[in-house]
Amino acid sequence: MKGEGVTIAVFPGDGIGPEVVAEAVKILGVIEGARRVSFRLDYGPVGGAALDACGEPLPASSLKKALEARAVLLGAVGGPKWDGLDYALRPERALLGLRERLGLFANLRPVTVYEELIDASPLKGEVVRGTDILIVRELTGDLYFGTPRGIRTEGGRRVGVNTLIYTEEEIRRIAQVAFLAARRRRRRVTSVDKANVLESTQLWRDVVTETAASYPDVELDHMYVDNCAMQLVRDPRRFDVVLTTNMFGDILSDEGAMITGSIGMLPSASLGETHAMYEPIHGSAPDIAGRGTANPLAAILSVAMMCRHTLGWEEEARAVEGAVRRVLRDGLRTADLARPGERTVGTAEMGDAVAAALAASLGG
Ligand code: IPM
Ligand code: MG
Repeated sequence: MKGEGVTIAVFPGDGIGPEVVAEAVKILGVIEGARRVSFRLDYGPVGGAALDACGEPLPASSLKKALEARAVLLGAVGGPKWDGLDYALRPERALLGLRERLGLFANLRPVTVYEELIDASPLKGEVVRGTDILIVRELTGDLYFGTPRGIRTEGGRRVGVNTLIYTEEEIRRIAQVAFLAARRRRRRVTSVDKANVLESTQLWRDVVTETAASYPDVELDHMYVDNCAMQLVRDPRRFDVVLTTNMFGDILSDEGAMITGSIGMLPSASLGETHAMYEPIHGSAPDIAGRGTANPLAAILSVAMMCRHTLGWEEEARAVEGAVRRVLRDGLRTADLARPGERTVGTAEMGDAVAAALAASLGG
């Protein structure tokens, strides 16, 4: 039996977040119908939606839901309406607060090029075909959380400060995640740093190299981040697992997204010792919010990651991924994926099609 009740905290957030999360929830419904499981969905506001409702981006009630759930499913946060706010009040604080409070130090961002979408990539098909990268981004350290930080006035002029700091424990635990992930893939880790300039990332390189000794079956190489940015577009297929810092991972994962053709395709998992959060990496896309045109596939694929990493349901994870491939093969395209003149479907139509394909394959 696959477990009785599973509580999932659902935070739709802002912009297209609610639209894509609604489709991910349909997928949970199909899994529930086909398997002996019942999901208890515990909805809460985060980000701008929470600012409007309760005056803070991460209300205590939502944090509590997150702490008590098996996993969090999050849409997106942020939008122009809240851009002028102080740092402590910005919608992004919800995301950073959840990462910090849930201890989500490991961010997995798979960059998969679908053969069906090869023409959606701005790069040549022959360069990107078959690309399958897992970016393992450290998520609770680096410039994002280091202190001192802030803008202060010194000698009559303003000075902005952030601190790049990593302890060896922080580096070791994320390196272990990368090596273990590589064992389930092509057994190759590329660690990305800027060790030629930044001492903190020389430590990163040293500790990753030490950690590698426990994984003799995994091949390790090191790359400077500027070179990695170049190699990702020159020859993305050379990469298997890319292990990197919070800041570099933020940048390289957006670059990775474009290799696949649309950022609307990329799911993510943020994992800690005891908690997990799943979200599409595309953000709130305020320009297209509320129109029903957003691509829900990244949110749906995030449910697949939840099945795999939190629930341990590899079969269901693969079934969801298979259902996504199926609808792409059938020619369904949201606007972000379509070539000029191609017929497009809306968010709900895409979600319904994946749900139907999934129900067929799970026998629900
Ligand atoms: C991401 C986003 C976030 C980050 C923002 C919204 C705080 O860009 O998840 O990549 O910088 O980590
Ligand atoms: Mg980012």
